[in-house]
Amino acid sequence: MSVFELSGRKALVTGGAQGLGEGMAKALAEAGATVVIADIQEEAGRTVAKGLASDSDREHGFVALDVTSDDNWERAVSEAVEHLGGLDILVNNAGIEITSLITEIQADQVRKMLDVNILGTALGMKHGLRAMRPDGSAGNGGSIINVASVAATIAFPGIAIYSGTKSAVERMTKVAAMEAGKLGYGVRVNCIFPGLVPTAMGAGLANDVAELGLFPSPEAAVGAVVELTPAGRLGAVDDMADAVVFLASDASRFITGIGLPVDGGMGM
Ligand SMILES: NC(=O)c1ccc[n+]([C@@H]2O[C@H](COP(=O)([O-])OP(=O)(O)OC[C@H]3O[C@@H](n4cnc5c(N)ncnc54)[C@H](O)[C@@H]3O)[C@@H](O)[C@H]2O)c1
Repeated sequence: MSVFELSGRKALVTGGAQGLGEGMAKALAEAGATVVIADIQEEAGRTVAKGLASDSDREHGFVALDVTSDDNWERAVSEAVEHLGGLDILVNNAGIEITSLITEIQADQVRKMLDVNILGTALGMKHGLRAMRPDGSAGNGGSIINVASVAATIAFPGIAIYSGTKSAVERMTKVAAMEAGKLGYGVRVNCIFPGLVPTAMGAGLANDVAELGLFPSPEAAVGAVVELTPAGRLGAVDDMADAVVFLASDASRFITGIGLPVDGGMGM
């Protein structure tokens, strides 16, 4: 069996109803894992779960989850562990981006990003680690993958607060990896830094920075990103999904506490 193979593994993916999370859920299922998608978008999430690669041994699922709610997390992880019969992989992918110049930031928008991107990821690690550690409801260790952003590693205009939340995701990842190791949880914790991918969020960002006058057009904003990227193109959903499969699998068994750039070199 390949070290990249995920047969028998049980995965929970937040924000899996669309975009990168949908791609990550698909890639994990294709690698052999059974997947539960968690999202605030119930109909879309259920539809994605139904479409995942499947066989007679695997029934993928969906749980409703607002990542900003501690109670929601408690219920969602418990439902996922029950549905899957365990939990080995948690992908904290749900996130939001609200573009603004620093001089125009609105307190409620800042709080929203802090809530979803920082608190949501923190609560995910809390409940994921509790379930995966030896005395937990799943109890078998595992791998947690948080989704940060290349924005945590560069200074792109218009996304100061978003970038700050993603820097926080990186730092929380490292501390969590240290605690999990020291306390013998058997859980690796890593994050990825995706480059710009034209999902709803990525395309929205290109439009927003053009509207703010930072670039002459959305196409010029995309061109500037490509120009800064040695690989010479935008990211694709599969680029991020395959990195998540790697960090979920035994191929990365001696890797914990890292932030893995998946950005074509943009953030180096
Ligand atoms: N697209 C990019 O260019 C890019 C680049 C770097 C990092 N990222 C990060 O990747 C992740 C996914 O981004 P995407 O492009 O797929 O975005 P997207 O907006 O297409 O999808 C985000 C998903 O998260 C869900 N979500 C939002 N708030 C939630 C909440 N409170 N609880 C549960 N689910 C919630 C949404 O319903 C949606 O399904 C985010 O964390 C984002 O910051 C994206």
